[in-house]
Amino acid sequence: MRVYSGIQPTGRKHLGNYLGAIRHYVTGQEQAWAAGDEAIFCVVDLHATTVAYDPRELRDRTYDTVALLLAAGLDPERSILYRQGDVPEVPELTWLLTAVTAHGDLNRMHQFKEKSAQQRELVSAGLFLYPVLMAADVLAFRADRVPVGDDQRQHIELMRDIALRFNARFGATDGGEPREILRVPEGVYPTVAARVMDLQQPEKKMSTSSGSVEGTLYLLDEPKTIEKKLKRAVTDSENPPVIRRGPDKAGVSNLIDVLAAATDRTPDAVEASLQDARGYGDLKAATAEAVVALLRPIQERYAELRGDEAAIEAALAVGAEKARALARPVVADVREAMGVGPRRR
Ligand code: TRP
Repeated sequence: MRVYSGIQPTGRKHLGNYLGAIRHYVTGQEQAWAAGDEAIFCVVDLHATTVAYDPRELRDRTYDTVALLLAAGLDPERSILYRQGDVPEVPELTWLLTAVTAHGDLNRMHQFKEKSAQQRELVSAGLFLYPVLMAADVLAFRADRVPVGDDQRQHIELMRDIALRFNARFGATDGGEPREILRVPEGVYPTVAARVMDLQQPEKKMSTSSGSVEGTLYLLDEPKTIEKKLKRAVTDSENPPVIRRGPDKAGVSNLIDVLAAATDRTPDAVEASLQDARGYGDLKAATAEAVVALLRPIQERYAELRGDEAAIEAALAVGAEKARALARPVVADVREAMGVGPRRR
């Protein structure tokens, strides 16, 4: 079972990114390692160039993200961690895959519509092709499972279609089933409880782009900041206060879910443990304490790692080497099947 995921080098990562994705990368790494298979993680600097961005910052944001992933427990000895721009097989495959990608499908992508509406200067062709680059990321490794956020469902469906269409078009055999030149991957989506909501607008997902700073718990926030943000988290005016989850209690439900996730308990167990609490203040204090404790070791390791960019580059060089070794033969198969370049001997 080969696991693959990609993560943007943009924006400060928040608790929702950790509980919904990064934490599961580490689990995926351990499972793949135990099974003698590969877990592959990519920091997608090429994707970051599809919208307006500052070239003086991209490399630093990539280092930030790599250091954070390492601090969270990704281990270059046990998994492959690479920077997208270090593996030229991927953009090459992107181009090759455009041959089986429908323009109309790309035009229907929600993310393209949203992001293109936000661009002031230029809607780049790269933004339009974003999903094909993402398909190439995964398909270049014949990955089986792709853990991603809910917002990536449409991209995953498209990548599956591209793989199926590629195999049907270029893997056709006389009369039989088409050859599986490209593996058709499956998306793995977080469970509802793994979704962290904005502390100020608990109906909305915690988000770097659309949320409020006060409602977002960044992974590198100081303990004091975390306490302050949680103290001010929106709850409800039920009197007396009731610590339980419910559709009419978005703020309280979110705090319970976060506390449960941070302490590795079920939300039911958390509710039970707070039965004698005096009010929402107790829930908020317990949540702050748990989040601070959860993030402390990550923050400490991050501070150590981020200071040594040469070491980050060295780790990325190892990752790029391993990634290219896996991607090269896949792209060679694709070129051969498509009749591109010289015949393979
Ligand atoms: N588009 C993904 C996101 O915004 C990031 C990504 C790029 C990705 N390539 C990928 C995720 C390949 C999974 C697999 O979250």
